[in-house]
Amino acid sequence: MVNNYLQTIISDHQLINDRINLMSKSKKNKNSQQTISSKLQSFLDEADRIKKQLRQETLNRDELEQKYLGKKGLFTRLSAKITDIPKTDKPQAGKVLNHLKEDITAYIEKLSGDKSQLGLDGNSIDLTLPGKKPQMGHLHPITQAINEITDIFQKIGFVRVRYPEVDWDWYAFGSLNMPQDHPARDEWETFFVDESAHSKKGKMVLTPHTSNGQVREMERVGEPPIRMINIARCYRRQQDVTHTQMFHQFEGLVIDKDINIQHLKGTIDHFAKEFYGPSAKSRIRPFHFKFTEPSFEVDFSCHICEGKGVITDPNDPKRTTTCRFCKSGWHEVGGAGMVHPNVLKAGGIDPNEYTGFAFGWGIERSYTLKEGLNIDDIRLLYSAQMEFLQQF
Ligand code: DAH
Repeated sequence: MVNNYLQTIISDHQLINDRINLMSKSKKNKNSQQTISSKLQSFLDEADRIKKQLRQETLNRDELEQKYLGKKGLFTRLSAKITDIPKTDKPQAGKVLNHLKEDITAYIEKLSGDKSQLGLDGNSIDLTLPGKKPQMGHLHPITQAINEITDIFQKIGFVRVRYPEVDWDWYAFGSLNMPQDHPARDEWETFFVDESAHSKKGKMVLTPHTSNGQVREMERVGEPPIRMINIARCYRRQQDVTHTQMFHQFEGLVIDKDINIQHLKGTIDHFAKEFYGPSAKSRIRPFHFKFTEPSFEVDFSCHICEGKGVITDPNDPKRTTTCRFCKSGWHEVGGAGMVHPNVLKAGGIDPNEYTGFAFGWGIERSYTLKEGLNIDDIRLLYSAQMEFLQQF
């Protein structure tokens, strides 16, 4: 910018000199021997001096205007001298005056416009001024949550894996102890893909949960131990404030000798404290899934009422109201249980030798329960509204 500016000054300067030269030449041409009058010559010299002097000034805009264009200013005084110029030279002197005025005005304008970029002498640059930062984006909040969850489990020895998000019925249902036409399948609101079915693995589906990774992981590893964390997109025919048709789940699977429910509960507790903070608690409640026995639903304590389900009035400790965020002190996030022997068998693992636990729940749901987020409509996460996403 400053370089451009200096360039302008230099070319301006050349322009005025060129004009003067041109004028002298044309004068010479017209009256072959004659040169320009001495009065015009000193007028032009003075104009040139004023122009040079202006470039050396360290005054501010008002002072410059006063000194050059004010009533007694240098330019004003020079223009008064035009009356002394011989009549024939007056047009040239007038042109020089016009040009000088334009130049002074433009210089002062430019100098005050670029004040932040120019030093006091108007020609230097302040390299210590902070630059303008380019706009930086950031990861989508769900990607941030995925990274955080991956980290938590990797630190305790889980291996992050990914399995197809368009998969055979066998991995999504059949191998998970859900026979064809079993009513339990209805719970998953599945999208079926319009493709011909596999002779053994059945139809293709958009995976409605990450549990399809269980038998795939058993096939990949072969002989336990297995410590898997499978994070993937899932799809179900459901869309409202707490559901989006595309969402994410993470699925844990641990298979080894002598694995029991305490390992499951310990792992879930560890996750709760790492993800929600040291005061977070988890609980498991009996439930039914075809692929685990026993099965549980998993809840995390509510951070607003700290698991009590009621809020105490700070002015009157005897008065309590139900917590509007959870209503019960707990938020349900997903399912878990001890891997069903039939599922181990489907994955080629001997249930008499090995036992295991599994858990799986939604990332959007888990993430929106974090303290301070209060996202009451998870569809916003995928609305592509920059004002919303920029907050995270
Ligand atoms: N896949 C189940 C669902 O989406 C959640 C689940 C329940 C996962 C029990 C598990 C499990 O691994 O053991 O509703």
